[in-house]
Amino acid sequence: MPRSKHANPAMTSLKRVLVIGSGGRENSLAWAIKKCSVVEDVWVSPGNGGTKNLSGCKQLLIEEQDFESLKEVTISKNIDLVVIGPEAPLEAGLADFLRDAGIAVFGPGAKGAQLEASKSWAKELMRDANIPTAKYWAVGSQEEALSILKKNECALVVKLDGLAAGKGVIVPSTLEETEEAIKAAFKGEFGSSGQKLLLEERLEGPEVSVFALCDGERFIILPTAQDHKRLKEGDKGPNTGGMGSYAPAQILSDKQLKEVAELILEPTLKALKDKNIDYRGVIYAGLMVTSQGPKVIEFNCRFGDPECQTLMPLMGAELADVLHACALGTLDKAPKLFIKNECSACVVAAAGGYPESPSKGNYIKIDIPADDKVQLFHAGTRRNESGELFTAGGRVLSVVAQSDSFDKAFAKAYQNMDRVDFEGITYRRDIGHQVRQSENVSK
Ligand code: AMP
Ligand code: GLY
Repeated sequence: MPRSKHANPAMTSLKRVLVIGSGGRENSLAWAIKKCSVVEDVWVSPGNGGTKNLSGCKQLLIEEQDFESLKEVTISKNIDLVVIGPEAPLEAGLADFLRDAGIAVFGPGAKGAQLEASKSWAKELMRDANIPTAKYWAVGSQEEALSILKKNECALVVKLDGLAAGKGVIVPSTLEETEEAIKAAFKGEFGSSGQKLLLEERLEGPEVSVFALCDGERFIILPTAQDHKRLKEGDKGPNTGGMGSYAPAQILSDKQLKEVAELILEPTLKALKDKNIDYRGVIYAGLMVTSQGPKVIEFNCRFGDPECQTLMPLMGAELADVLHACALGTLDKAPKLFIKNECSACVVAAAGGYPESPSKGNYIKIDIPADDKVQLFHAGTRRNESGELFTAGGRVLSVVAQSDSFDKAFAKAYQNMDRVDFEGITYRRDIGHQVRQSENVSK
């Protein structure tokens, strides 16, 4: 059957899915998609040391930047849907490339990915569409930045414009610290993307991640999740990709979530459409719930990691059809996505030395008994020829658990995390402190 971007999903069976990426996020996506009864085969490429153990998922060893090979394998294996996990291939145009070959893709094209890849582009879109966010100034020189700081007379958040793998944001508390951060950024101390900066008003309030699955015209919202970005307990230490998460986060009331849909997500999707961007993928809104209501801190063009690992076990068996419908632009015809009424808890184990210089090549011992309500998702792991598992990245793996309360879900996640060991293993014991009644989860 010829492939068409705009085929009716009722006419297009969904049997084979390819998930692109190598993190915990992609393993959890593949695991959740494989559980959907319509789906027969799920591949993850390039995956990691845990991919083959994901209830029948298969691994391909094609890197995410090898567009040509990804296209060839999608066609030769008759894959019906490609789900792109990470931001880098989205920014580089992988979704456009595959769509041009008639392949159904969940993930925005390069233009849409600018929501995440260019903070100044995203801020401009928010300003033009009147979306609640921090005031900002885009600056191209140190002089300009310092003169804005002088006029403003209070500390400002300093951000690099491009993708900076979580390292491009400094949140100073004083004018002096802001000045230092501006100078350091222009010296290139936060990475090479430092020629263009954003200065932002500093917002205050709890943070929450909202994920909208979009088909270009419409969207549905998943349960909200909360991430824990700092390495150490008590939200101290350096920023990381995320050390744990939980869902649903009880930070937004139903009324506030409705406001987020009406005042943030609808106008964002409309603004994208007005720019001729047919956005089919996730809009991840990182929000701060301020005294004036929820405001956007940042947009990302993919699922959060580790929020995705926390959310996937809550998804009903319609998930694959819903992602497929987003890819085809027919979310209105998709089945309603069932969401389990459970508390989901995720704890990430990182390598020693993370995030600066994670130590690699350490043997990993895992002794987790099978349990329907516990998942182990690998990230920075690899297997040697005899199948033994070793650390191979900063965030090594995550343990996720569900129960009818957060106390029980976290107790279960930690009991199982205590059955994982490798040299230098680092994890926070206070993930979910916001929603846990019992402070100490037993060792
Ligand atoms: P981002 O990469 O834009 O998500 O920023 C990383 C972290 O910096 C966020 O999760 C916030 O904790 C913090 N941050 C970013 N922008 C602001 C802001 N305007 N006000 C206060 N905190 C911020
Ligand atoms: N957990 C934060 C992120 O994925 O950007």
